Amino acid sequence: MIEELENILERYRKKGGNIIALLQDTQESLGYIPRMAVRFFSEELGIAASRFYGVATFYSQFRLKPVGRHKITACCGTACHVRGAEKIIGGLRKELALPAGEDTTPDGEFTLEEVACLGTCSFAPVVMVDGGVRGKTSADVIVKEIKAIRKKPDEG
Ligand code: FES
Repeated sequence: MIEELENILERYRKKGGNIIALLQDTQESLGYIPRMAVRFFSEELGIAASRFYGVATFYSQFRLKPVGRHKITACCGTACHVRGAEKIIGGLRKELALPAGEDTTPDGEFTLEEVACLGTCSFAPVVMVDGGVRGKTSADVIVKEIKAIRKKPDEG
């Protein structure tokens, strides 16, 4: 991981970049922004770690925890909310046994992400499973898909 961080730092220095770009590169490479990456950049650049955390927590695009192998994105925008998004999210959280305040299962298999609008409101309620859009869906349909994913043999 250090080698990757050094490459990111090199690009940052060459471009005279900013903290946002540095964090974006880190997340793109590693999937999230690990604590050790913040420590590394902080020491190398002489910038307080709190400045990195300030930016990372201000923008919702940044993740400070690893993402699960499978990503479920549930829309909770107005159109989806009106059509039962809350019930879907509740059903998915229950199926995934997500502890309060957590969005990734302890085994690292699934992350449930909530977003404001997926831009396909006419298909509300909308959920994405590993990048595939499921419109006019329900908790039952997505739970079935989660179960099917769990049954699939590992492809790694
Ligand atoms: S509100 Fe859900 S797709 Fe727009």
